[in-house]
Amino acid sequence: MPFDRTVKIAPSILSADFANFGAEIRAIEAQGADWVHVDVMDNHFVPNLTFGPQAVKAFRPHVTTFMDVHLMISPVDASISAYAEAGADMITAHVEAEPHIHRTMQAIRATGKMAGVSLNPATPLESIEYLLDDVDMVLLMTVNPGFGGQKFIESGVEKTRRLREKIGDRPVHIQIDGGVTPETSPAVVAAGADVLVAGSAVFKGGSVETPEVYGANIRALREAVAGVQQ
Ligand code: DX5
Ligand code: ZN
Repeated sequence: MPFDRTVKIAPSILSADFANFGAEIRAIEAQGADWVHVDVMDNHFVPNLTFGPQAVKAFRPHVTTFMDVHLMISPVDASISAYAEAGADMITAHVEAEPHIHRTMQAIRATGKMAGVSLNPATPLESIEYLLDDVDMVLLMTVNPGFGGQKFIESGVEKTRRLREKIGDRPVHIQIDGGVTPETSPAVVAAGADVLVAGSAVFKGGSVETPEVYGANIRALREAVAGVQQ
């Protein structure tokens, strides 16, 4: 995939109908999603439990765009090959979840997949300063990970701006995850983010029977950020 900084909308299927993932994925893609964001939670690193590699593998045939797997699990390293084999295009791990995060990124890239590193809202950018040549994406959490539908933490805007400066001309995406809405997204895109994860803001009010609502929600996000990229 050639690198580009145009804004990408990545609906999080954490807000989808858990009994109907295949149809939900097909619906959001048909309605304009650029990436599909898959939140893996272990009830240990975060206080919630979602699904593991077998489920992610079952999602794969339904994804025609890009499967972005956000691992909120600790430890991570022993599970990387399972998520790579499950068909992830990008595997993102948390800097807080492994003592040797550089090794984690190397292990992800060794599988041939793209590597992302994620930071919780309270984790300083300095923790990844020496990783920027070894990752394809930095995910800044703008809520404490674990649940959809939480309020956007405003300090993420300044953090995005500082991260964008540090990245310079490296081909590294900035992904924002948590509380992304048409109201909160313009500031982070202006600050340098190019991948917007949105769970509740995409799925709210819609269903596989009324997928046009997903389409309207995705368009509302796109329109909110149109032209604000610097
Ligand atoms: C939170 C997850 C998010 C979540 C975002 O821990 O990483 O991807 O689905 O949900 P919203 O967009 O509702 O904040
Ligand atoms: Zn996520």
